[in-house]
Amino acid sequence: MPGASILFAAAIWAHAALAVPVARSAYAVKETHYVPRRWTLKGRAPKHQMLALQIGVKQGDFDALERNLYEISDPDHARYGQHLSHDEVNTLVKPTDEALDAVHEWLLSNGIGEFDYSQAKDWISVKISVEKAEELLATEYSVYVHQDGTEHSRTTEWSLPRHLHDHIDTIQPTTSFMRARTNDVGGERQLKKRDGPWPPADYQPPTDPAIARACSINGTTPECFKTLYKTKGYKQKVAGKNQIGFNNYLAEVPIRPDAALFLQKYEPSAVKGAYEYKFISIDGGPYHDGPSTPTELANGTDKEANLDVQTILGMTYPMPVTAYTTGGEPPQIPDEAAGDPPGNEPYLAWVTYALSQKKPPQVISTSYGDDEQTVPIAYAKRVCSSFAQLGARGVTLLFSSGDHGVGNAAGNDASACISNDGKNTTKFLPSFPASCPYVTTVGATQNFQPETAAYRPADSLGPDGALHAYYASGSGFSDYFPRPSYQDQAVKSYLKKIGSLHKGLYNTHGRGYPDIAAQGLYFQYFWNATNAVISGTSASTPLTAGILALVNDALISSGKPTLGFLNPWLYKKGYKGFTDILSGGNGGCNTTGFPLTEGWDPVTGFGTPIFPEIVKLAGGKC
Ligand SMILES: *[C@@H]1O[C@H](CO)[C@@H](O)[C@H](O)[C@H]1NC(C)=O
Ligand SMILES: *[C@@H]1O[C@H](CO)[C@@H](O)[C@H](O)[C@H]1NC(C)=O
Ligand SMILES: *[C@@H]1O[C@H](CO)[C@@H](O)[C@H](O)[C@H]1NC(C)=O
Ligand SMILES: *[C@@H]1O[C@H](CO)[C@@H](O)[C@H](O)[C@H]1NC(C)=O
Ligand SMILES: *[C@@H]1O[C@H](CO)[C@@H](O)[C@H](O)[C@H]1NC(C)=O
Repeated sequence: MPGASILFAAAIWAHAALAVPVARSAYAVKETHYVPRRWTLKGRAPKHQMLALQIGVKQGDFDALERNLYEISDPDHARYGQHLSHDEVNTLVKPTDEALDAVHEWLLSNGIGEFDYSQAKDWISVKISVEKAEELLATEYSVYVHQDGTEHSRTTEWSLPRHLHDHIDTIQPTTSFMRARTNDVGGERQLKKRDGPWPPADYQPPTDPAIARACSINGTTPECFKTLYKTKGYKQKVAGKNQIGFNNYLAEVPIRPDAALFLQKYEPSAVKGAYEYKFISIDGGPYHDGPSTPTELANGTDKEANLDVQTILGMTYPMPVTAYTTGGEPPQIPDEAAGDPPGNEPYLAWVTYALSQKKPPQVISTSYGDDEQTVPIAYAKRVCSSFAQLGARGVTLLFSSGDHGVGNAAGNDASACISNDGKNTTKFLPSFPASCPYVTTVGATQNFQPETAAYRPADSLGPDGALHAYYASGSGFSDYFPRPSYQDQAVKSYLKKIGSLHKGLYNTHGRGYPDIAAQGLYFQYFWNATNAVISGTSASTPLTAGILALVNDALISSGKPTLGFLNPWLYKKGYKGFTDILSGGNGGCNTTGFPLTEGWDPVTGFGTPIFPEIVKLAGGKC
């Protein structure tokens, strides 16, 4: 079903409908945010540039939504599995009339009468010029240039009338400087070819003959994953009722002819799947049915999207697959008077669309992330609460943990691990949305018997004879989100084991991630009609999504509720269905990162899935 979909319902607010006018009050600063590294100030923003401001109006009762989410996700609660309806969620989060009236009154008194709403009316979107926004928010916008050449109009401080401070959580684009990135480390960063010993000297081949036949260090395949995680032979029973989806950002398009070549070679029974998955385009997200275009090839795009779709189809055919493509960045959408699109980070646009749907897929995989510190905290919190709303609807959201251990994508040295606190404090840099407590975050492993944490030093020889970039499974603790109670015991016990290691470099009270892991090194895949290998938590995340979607098939056909928001169940009993990963490396920020331990650790979480065990623990039959 290709085609652009409507994200917001438009409405003109009738002035007469206003009850009592709200008293005006003086402006006071609502938010300040430092400009992150790698952005430089270029000059004043053009006055007539259009901005699509997203106004996050305070939700009516998010606490009740959260309480509901935890009850229906707790296997010991009477309401376990009783996911909320679309309307129930909207009713809980809809802002109060008082909040909406106050925001409307403010906009109208500034001459802004045309708004778009999210379905719950908790987001109001207005298209206005930079000049108007500067007046509305008592601020000044400037053009900032990222070192990759992208330009955005942003500000470091903005204000609101005092009486609105409690009614509005966030407004963007104002202070957001995030740059979503794919969590894959693949062929594109190969430096040069080198001869050398292959497989690596420390590689131990599997001893189990079935695993040894299916799994090769030279490149992993669906056959390997099915054997290793024991989905092999499972016959889906409710493929139409059960669905899986995955996100595509940054102009990535999953390419059908490449998926067909991949499946022909590695999972021939699924080859029709290459032409059956549906595209849903949000905010002008690109899609097409042909091979990668010359621009896509020149830009090296579609690798991430191909990895995702090929991995999912290889695991889940004939389950229906939805590929969401969300636009906004880069390239910028050329309409709206060359406006600055709201999708400076795409998660909000996507989740707002997903929440507007009556039946989103039950499992959705996302292999993208940002440095948490580049996302303004108020905005990160609102996007994270939107994920909670999808969780309450029974959707399992999986996010990749990142590919740079405790650091960010800028490299494995201390200079890449500098806090955006105005003081340049050296510290570990967590990743968002991986750090959101309402999603399940997936790390990566390598090798087969035993599996170990995915780790590869810089300039490592790969199976293709080329040198590959540094890679360590993303790992850490949020600076924004406190530790949720479901992981209290697991995380406290881990922190006790590591004692004072890395003290001061991470937040001991933050949400720890990842929650689980799966294979993530040297996946076979096709791009530009060519077979190559690619690695990352970008690989482990769609793989895990495929396996959990198969669990849902078994649950639905056993008359049980689907997994929904996984974590409360996972930390209480589901972890028993995962193989604990005990060794392997981590790194980032010129450190050895966090150590692996018995039980949960912030490198591989509870470990890798054992399909029949998970089905059993969730009350289903294979
Ligand atoms: C992996 O590739 C090497 C050559 O690069 C070959 O010698 C070896 O047999 C291959 N291993 C497997 C398991 O296919
Ligand atoms: C794509 O494949 C064609 C044919 O093999 C090759 O000539 C071209 O260089 C490839 N493009 C890229 C960007 O790798
Ligand atoms: C490809 O890169 C060019 C130059 O960097 C840029 O202008 C263009 O928007 C990019 N296209 C896509 C599809 O990413
Ligand atoms: C990384 O750590 C090593 C050893 O501790 C040290 O010699 C080196 O200077 C560090 N590099 C950076 C960029 O911090
Ligand atoms: C932090 O680093 C940036 C970029 O190197 C520099 O411009 C700034 O002056 C530094 N701030 C402090 C307080 O050292």
